[in-house]
Amino acid sequence: MSSPLDREPDARGVLPPDIHDYVATGAGDEETVAANRDAWGRWWLRPRVLTGVSDVDLTTTMLGTTVSSPVLVAPTGYQRQVHREGEVGTARAAAEAGALFVLSTRASCRLDDVAAVAGPWWLQVYVLRDRGITEEVVRRSVAAGARALVLTGDTPVVSTRSRRSSFDPAHAATMARDLTDVRDDSAYEQAPDVTYADIGWLREVSGGLPVVVKGVLRADDARACVAAGAAAVWVSNHGGRQLDGVVPTAVALPEVADAVGSDAEVFVDGGVRHGRDVVRALALGARGVGLGRAVLWALAADGSAGVADLLAAYEANLTETMQLVGARSPSGVTRDLVTWR
Ligand SMILES: Cc1cc2nc3c(=O)[nH]c(=O)nc-3n(C[C@H](O)[C@H](O)[C@H](O)COP(=O)(O)O)c2cc1C
Repeated sequence: MSSPLDREPDARGVLPPDIHDYVATGAGDEETVAANRDAWGRWWLRPRVLTGVSDVDLTTTMLGTTVSSPVLVAPTGYQRQVHREGEVGTARAAAEAGALFVLSTRASCRLDDVAAVAGPWWLQVYVLRDRGITEEVVRRSVAAGARALVLTGDTPVVSTRSRRSSFDPAHAATMARDLTDVRDDSAYEQAPDVTYADIGWLREVSGGLPVVVKGVLRADDARACVAAGAAAVWVSNHGGRQLDGVVPTAVALPEVADAVGSDAEVFVDGGVRHGRDVVRALALGARGVGLGRAVLWALAADGSAGVADLLAAYEANLTETMQLVGARSPSGVTRDLVTWR
């Protein structure tokens, strides 16, 4: 078996090659895919000694919801393509772990089936060309228990992948289709005209749920999102799947965290592969740290049980890393614990 924190070798053994490649690939020459992973390693850890770490507690809050760990499940679409349990399996594992689960607009399971097993969960929103469909997905998600909306801002159009897989996701995302009777495929495409004003629109449609903007990589954008009503920003480059050559998230994170200060919460994802990357992210100002491909590999390898094992492995690895850096809680992981090489 592969490392409990990275089940990619196991997943490769069971997935059809086109599905494996669909998950693994990035945009362009995949410069950012590689840089995301490398950049965490550019932050050296500076541990404290003799701090007494027998009682590490990973519990934290995300927009007012108590969760067991700063590690959360980032939104990824089409999960039934990697395992028949799909989003239901992932949501169940996150619920059992007490971790936050973010459900993609491009989910492949039925909304009610996911909500029935989920613990705390947020809905990731792609504004679709037919805004009526988007409104329906948001309203139904609010009714089903979503506690926040994650507006993905880095995907006004879907970028061309370099090693394009032959998998065509167009009809694999059944959640939204299940909620409406619109049959025109173009209605489900990304709307390229999304602006800051849509933060307020989503708050309105959802009856006031907090809005998180995902895909923020700059201080000025972060401040503009907060000024437009966002409760949080999520530093992300879509795992290197959108614009290639963009700044790795471990580089963008401190700029964004400093820009919003205590006005908003900050989340991050991209290339996180160990508990020590989570500690680096917390030190640089993140409240929550998302796993994208890692969850899909675990789901592919072993279904819901695989995702549960992954989250448990992260909990153990993060606890040990916190002990070794001398921090007892996520709020004790401060900026002085890292330095740039
Ligand atoms: C197969 C796949 C599907 C994804 N689907 C979505 C999506 O539907 N919505 C979204 O906001 N991000 C999506 N993402 C991006 C993830 O939320 C996350 O930003 C990224 O995977 C983090 O990088 P990592 O895979 O290195 O952890 C997807 C990523 C992958 C790999």
